[in-house]
Amino acid sequence: MAQFEARNGLAGLRVLLGVSGGIAAYKACELVRRLRDAGAEVRVVLTENAARFVTPLTFQALSGQPVRSGLWDEAAEAAMGHLELAHWAQRIVIAPASADLVARLAHGFADDLLSTLCLASDAPLAIAPAMNLRMWAHAATQANVATLRGRGAVFLGPGEGRMAEPESGLGRLLEPHEIIAELGALHGPKALTGKRVLVSAGPTYEDIDPVRFIGNRSSGRMGFAVAQAAMEQGARVELVAGPVHLPTPAGVARVDVRSARDMREAVLARAPHSDIYVGAAAVGDFRPHEVAAHKLKKTGGALTLSLNENPDILAAVAALKPRPYVVGFAAETQNIEGYARAKLERKKLDLIAANKVGEGEGFDACQNEILLISRDGAERLARADKLALARQLVARIAEKYANRESEIGSGKASVRKRLPARASGRTRARAK
Ligand code: CTP
Repeated sequence: MAQFEARNGLAGLRVLLGVSGGIAAYKACELVRRLRDAGAEVRVVLTENAARFVTPLTFQALSGQPVRSGLWDEAAEAAMGHLELAHWAQRIVIAPASADLVARLAHGFADDLLSTLCLASDAPLAIAPAMNLRMWAHAATQANVATLRGRGAVFLGPGEGRMAEPESGLGRLLEPHEIIAELGALHGPKALTGKRVLVSAGPTYEDIDPVRFIGNRSSGRMGFAVAQAAMEQGARVELVAGPVHLPTPAGVARVDVRSARDMREAVLARAPHSDIYVGAAAVGDFRPHEVAAHKLKKTGGALTLSLNENPDILAAVAALKPRPYVVGFAAETQNIEGYARAKLERKKLDLIAANKVGEGEGFDACQNEILLISRDGAERLARADKLALARQLVARIAEKYANRESEIGSGKASVRKRLPARASGRTRARAK
C-alpha cells in the first residue's frame, strides 16, 4: 500500500468530492473508500438531489467527516464556512456529475453549495459525468463540456455500457477504480519522462484494386489510448496509425499509413531512436500478390485472389541491434495464454498483452481486459475502459522497462548474457 500511495499522487491530498443527483450516486460511496485507501483526505458535498439517492449519513460514516449539502446550514457554516471549504480543497472531484450540474458549472451558477464551491475554489476540477446517452450526446451538453474543458476542467469518462435504463451507450459513470486510476495518472509522478515511446495502432488495409481492400475490424482505440497514457507519463510519443477515425491525443506526433508494408517502413524508421515500442496495430497478415490497376469486374464465377504473407513488424523491431523494449499484443479467440506465450518467444518480445477478440470483445469494443505476460510470469489487468486499461498497462511497461535498465546498469553478467541486444540498447540510449 505504501508504494501505491507514493506513486498514485493522491496520498495526502485534500479532495472535495461533489456528488450530484442520479442513480449512479451510490457508486460515490465506493469512491470515498478508495480515495481514502489511496491516502486522500475526503470531504463530501451533496447536491439536494444527491441526498435523495444516498443519505448524508452514509457519506459521513465513509469519509469520517461532516457532510454538507445546503448553503444555509448555520451549524455547518459555523464549523467551516463554505469559503473556507473552497480554500481547503486541493482537488475537486465531481462524481457523478449530472447534465444539469455540468450546465450550471459551465455557466458559472452559484445557486447551491457545490456550484458555489466550484466557483470559489482554485483547485483543479475533475468531472465524472453520468447521464442518459442522448443527454450526453446533446449539443447543449457537449458545448458545456467544451466550455469547461477550455477552462481546464478534466472529464473522466463517461464510460460506455449498460445504464440504469434498458439502454446501452456513452454516458455511464466510470467505475470507482477507473476514476482512481485516472486521477492517479493526472496527479501522480511521471514514470516515462524523457523516454521516447513508439506506438503502432489500428488496422492495415491491403488494396485489391482501386476500390477494394482487405482490412480488419481494429478500431485503433487501444493503441491510441496507449499513446495518450504514455504521453501523460511524460514520454515523447510517436504514433504510427493505420486507417482509423480517431482524434490524435494532444501532444502525440502521428504518422498515418495504410498497408502493412507502409507501417513497417514508418515503424522501422523510428524504432532505432525509441526506448520503447508498443505494437498495438492489427497488422494484416496477407496482401494480394498484385494490386489490379482497374476495378475488378464480375465474371459470373468465383474470384481467386493469390495472397502473399506480410512481413512481421514486431519481430523486425525485436531483431534490431540495439533494440527498444518491445511490447506486443496478441488478439486471440481461444487458448489466449498459450498462443500469447508462443508469440512472446517466437517474436523475442519483452512483454505481450493478450486479449480476447470476437463477439463484442476486443477490437471495436470500448472495454477490454488484458493478460500481461513476460518471461517472469503473467498478470491480469481487470476489465476496464480502454484508456483506464492503457494507463495500467503503461504503468507496468514503465516499471518493467525501469527494472530492466537498472539490471543492465548494475552490470549483472547473466542479464547481459541473456539480453545482448538490450545491453547495447542501453549504450545507445546513453550516447543519444
Ligand atoms: N504483428 C506485426 N506484424 C505482423 C503481424 C503482427 O507487427 N505482420 C504484431 C501485432 O502488432 C501484435 C502482434 O504482432 O502486436 C501479434 O499480432 P497477432 O495478429 O495477434 O499475431 P500474428 O503474429 O499475426 O499471429 P496469428 O495471426 O497467427 O495469431
